[in-house]
Amino acid sequence: MSNILVTGGAGFIGANFVLDWLRQAGADGIVNVDKLTYAGNRESLAEVEGDVRHVFSQIDICDTAAVSCLLKVHRPRAVLHFAAESHVDRSILAPGQFVQTNIVGTFSLLEAVLAYWQGLDMSAREAFRFLHVSTDEVFGSLGPAEPPFSETSRYQPNSPYSASKAASDHMVRAYHHTYGLPVLITNCSNNYGPFQFPEKLIPLTITNALAGKSLPVYGDGLNVRDWLYVGDHCTAIREILARGRAGETYNVGGWNEKTNIEVVHTLCDLLDELKPKAAGSYRDQIAFVRDRPGHDRRYAINASKLAQELGWTPAETFESGLRKTVQWYLHNEAWVQDVLSGEYRNWMSKQYAA
Ligand code: NAD
Ligand code: DAU
Repeated sequence: MSNILVTGGAGFIGANFVLDWLRQAGADGIVNVDKLTYAGNRESLAEVEGDVRHVFSQIDICDTAAVSCLLKVHRPRAVLHFAAESHVDRSILAPGQFVQTNIVGTFSLLEAVLAYWQGLDMSAREAFRFLHVSTDEVFGSLGPAEPPFSETSRYQPNSPYSASKAASDHMVRAYHHTYGLPVLITNCSNNYGPFQFPEKLIPLTITNALAGKSLPVYGDGLNVRDWLYVGDHCTAIREILARGRAGETYNVGGWNEKTNIEVVHTLCDLLDELKPKAAGSYRDQIAFVRDRPGHDRRYAINASKLAQELGWTPAETFESGLRKTVQWYLHNEAWVQDVLSGEYRNWMSKQYAA
């Protein structure tokens, strides 16, 4: 059986990708490398526990020797790099770990992968791919009338998180141009869906609403994000891995621009329908709070390169994806309760104390 190696496969998008990949007929095996930080959760992988096609390894991507060892043993035909520190607010409070994992970690991983790739025979070298999962945040912030980000938009990262992701993108690109490593880079907009850690807007709103807590909306609530259901992101990555051109970058997005307050209102309305309160609406819990420092006003992705070259378009609308997501959180209370204990409580009191 041939293999692929995934980093960060116990996180939100990585776990969705692993589950989705192994549900496909004739899928390669997966070697799943994850350090299991606060954001990594093996409960998200319960469906593939005991599946011989899935090998989990708790490793830090900064550990080049350990990653090299795994590459040597499992001989993957591709490496998909999801692992990162991913939350903007955490990067504002403590940027150091973002530099370590997103920049040093990506560099360390590239070193291991390059040495492995150079040792392959010619046909395996040609077929090999290193797919780097990045973000639209590297392009900075759009004005209200500006066109969405394209693959040629200028890099203008504004937060420690997006700056660290931008640096990692540049390093991946350099390994292609300098050493010929066959890389693919994806820059995706905001994801939502099952297994997302409730520090991010959508799962935080759902879990706080159900717990009777306030629903914090930063600033005036009019910042815009372009939302994509995580299953659609996984499909896009599979297509790009299979048929994307080495050395290219692909923007991935849902054509779903929404203000934050629209998102929170829609979630409240869905919850009012699916799990009504004894009295009143979940909207009553909304609280406008102090803005995020340096808060990017608007992100939007032009995903037409992906549609034209590879025929990918999202399957879910914002309405269908959000309904599925709310239903998932309502039906997976054990997963939610497990996550809400421990480290999460410390984060919530630190971030929202004021
Ligand atoms: P996440 O925070 O939910 O998961 C990150 C995973 O990486 C966790 O399992 C964590 O344990 C692991 N990890 C962290 N540091 C590690 C290290 N040093 N070594 C090994 N594993 C480590 O993140 P996510 O939301 O699933 O995002 C995955 C990727 O997609 C990231 O690269 C992120 O920048 C990118 N991205 C995310 C979104 C989004 O909306 N969530 C959108 C576009 C791009
Ligand atoms: O655009 C892609 C990026 O999307 C990814 O690269 C990041 O990994 C991912 O975390 C996400 O970043 P955002 O900062 O856009 O996501 P977040 O869910 O943290 O916030 C979404 C918007 O909601 C943003 O404008 C800030 C706002 N917000 C967020 C939280 C947590 C609130 O108003 N209140 C909140 O409590």
